[in-house]
Amino acid sequence: MLRSSCLLVSCIILLVWTLPASSQQQLSDSEIEQRVNALLQQMTLEEKAGQLNQMPDKNAKTMEMIKQGKVGSLLGVLGVKEVNEAQHAAVDGSRLKIPLIFGYDVIHGYRTIFPAPLASAGSFDPQLIEQSERVAAKEATASGVKWTFAPMVDIARDPRWGRIVEGAGEDPYLGSVVAMARVRGFQGSNMADPQSVVASAKHFVGYGAVEGGRDYNTAEMSEQLLREVYLPPFRAAVDAGVGTLMSAFNDLNGIPASANHHTLTDILHGEWKFNGFVVSDYDSVHELIPHGTAADDSQASLEALTAGVDMDMADSDYVRYVPELVKSGKLPESVVDEAVRRVLRVKFKAGLFEHPYADPNREKTDILTPESLQTERKMAQESMVLLQNNHDLLPLKKDQTIAVIGPLADDKASQLGAWAGNGQAKDAVTPLEGIAAKLGKGHVLYAKGVDIQPFERGLAAGVAAPAPPSATGVAGVEASNKPASIEDAVSAAKKADTVILFVGELAGMTGEASSRASLDLPGDQMKLIQAVLATKKPTVLVLESGRPQNISWAPEHIPAIIQAWYLGVQSGNAIADVLFGDASPSGRLPLSWPRAVGQIPVYYNHKATGRPSAPDRWHTGYLDLSSEPLYPFGYGLTYTKFKYGSLKANSTISKDGTVHVSAEIENTGKREGTEVVQLYVHDRVAPTSRPVRELKGFERITLAPGEHKTVNFTVRANDLGSYDPEMHWIVPLGTYDVWVAPDSASGVAGTFEVQ
Ligand code: GLC
Repeated sequence: MLRSSCLLVSCIILLVWTLPASSQQQLSDSEIEQRVNALLQQMTLEEKAGQLNQMPDKNAKTMEMIKQGKVGSLLGVLGVKEVNEAQHAAVDGSRLKIPLIFGYDVIHGYRTIFPAPLASAGSFDPQLIEQSERVAAKEATASGVKWTFAPMVDIARDPRWGRIVEGAGEDPYLGSVVAMARVRGFQGSNMADPQSVVASAKHFVGYGAVEGGRDYNTAEMSEQLLREVYLPPFRAAVDAGVGTLMSAFNDLNGIPASANHHTLTDILHGEWKFNGFVVSDYDSVHELIPHGTAADDSQASLEALTAGVDMDMADSDYVRYVPELVKSGKLPESVVDEAVRRVLRVKFKAGLFEHPYADPNREKTDILTPESLQTERKMAQESMVLLQNNHDLLPLKKDQTIAVIGPLADDKASQLGAWAGNGQAKDAVTPLEGIAAKLGKGHVLYAKGVDIQPFERGLAAGVAAPAPPSATGVAGVEASNKPASIEDAVSAAKKADTVILFVGELAGMTGEASSRASLDLPGDQMKLIQAVLATKKPTVLVLESGRPQNISWAPEHIPAIIQAWYLGVQSGNAIADVLFGDASPSGRLPLSWPRAVGQIPVYYNHKATGRPSAPDRWHTGYLDLSSEPLYPFGYGLTYTKFKYGSLKANSTISKDGTVHVSAEIENTGKREGTEVVQLYVHDRVAPTSRPVRELKGFERITLAPGEHKTVNFTVRANDLGSYDPEMHWIVPLGTYDVWVAPDSASGVAGTFEVQ
């Protein structure tokens, strides 16, 4: 009797599971639950552990494991041929035919590389950010990738940390808006869309707060800081429907993020009702051993899985130890089942059961299209930040001779930045190429000036041995077959009307495992700058870097300064567009720019303290330096001027009401410009001390000369709240300051009451 009923159940299960569903249509939640449970009932313990195992490569051993049902995902396998070969091994070769999900770091583009995330966050343009991630998803899926380990949403207040370049900077509101835009771009309205990828908000959580800015280090913070600063962008990603999260390397208040039940289960599932799954960061299950909370890989697997890490990246701990942990009674099978359900749900939502294979035709048609390159060029234009423009030196006239000087001027690889996906340096347009293309032959002189030697871990960047001659091959610019020399740079500067210096950091000096103890320009770049400035030629400083550089000397000596970050494949064209006025700068700083590394951490949403900063020494600050950043969060100039009219706001709102704030903005300059109008609020009195300002809204507006516009903001009182000492979210009654501003240090002010 038992046997025949099992047979009947299996038939029903197989029938339910193989019900056809259209590729575009997202399965309903109930359909997915039905199919997940039907599948789960058939799985052996080894197959369950297999779904929780992500392998970091594709080789004979992996292919065998796939056929045995011991692999749920592959990392870093690219190309339709490779992907489909592995997928056939799963779908045709394994017992239950569960498709693999292919993951990859599509951090700021797949092949059309976009500006580094920190740069595009500074555009304050969520629509364009979303559009750029849509391009990234289209290219990634054309190459068989169905899951990206992005967006990185770690808030960071310490630019010594190399990974600050991967996120959206220091502010939780901007970080949340950008996180939602990226998730929407990657996943579209339907993860099963052939051009959508599943996103992964990372690194959960607190990674950006590593002590000393040292990557992989300890992060210690109060529950209030965790909830008010570091968690919000993850919550925003979850609310936007992100399919997965990735757990972080750091330990958080003594418990590794990849074994932290409080964050991974109490908050993520208990409070936020997250219905996707968590993948560990690379080897971070195994790393519980060096963290010192696990004695061996078996205990590490037990800790991570029960804390809420569902899939294990790269170290194969789960596939090796979970079956034994269950059989020995140490690990309830129900915990394994819940993790497997979470993984299967995402695979069903992603349409992998209906459409497991990549389309070989798209790989030829959907990558590096003219439309994608145009989107990238616009994103790059909007990501640059104009920091200074004395005497309106910029935009430059085109009918003049320009000396393009510096080690970043013709460095293709560095235009792409860190985590450049499947980007190819050859696709990048360098500033030299972009300027030469815009001005034409004979207008451009070039000298590299100095080489920058990559840092040897822990050592200062020395002056490089002469690099191989860099033939630029740029139209109209004689190929330089000599090693870089400052003398050549000075000579080029003397012959030119205007000098544009391209200095900063090599792309490899930023991103993961790239923390720096100094913000000084690496190598002999300062010697180059000083030699060129001695020629007294009008000079523009363009910085390409993944973090603010120490340029506190620059405002007094250089008329025009632009922070260009890393702008992607169209970098050179976008920089030329802005420098010569075919586009106007509108980017804003997504972080505070330190005057010196000794100021770090320096951020705008700091507390007032009992002795707020003031000139005299008996207030918070330094004896030897201002405690204000060189440039504040939200700062950026345009090629015109904007006047802020008086602020209007409701005088009183209830604590479940809404405040309406407005101000008139006028373009008082001679050129059209785009202003990022920002809304800041300060709660004057609360049970806990509050930041002196908090960003609560922003709007990009473009005005013609003389044009004016009233910008309106609406903020729910609840969004002005804070956590009380018992970690309850409250909206304190009393007076609130409010600003409508061009940055976090200025603006027109007002107040309102919450009663
Ligand atoms: C890396 C990074 C993470 C990335 C993962 C897979 O170590 O920390 O951001 O997604 O491994 O490459």
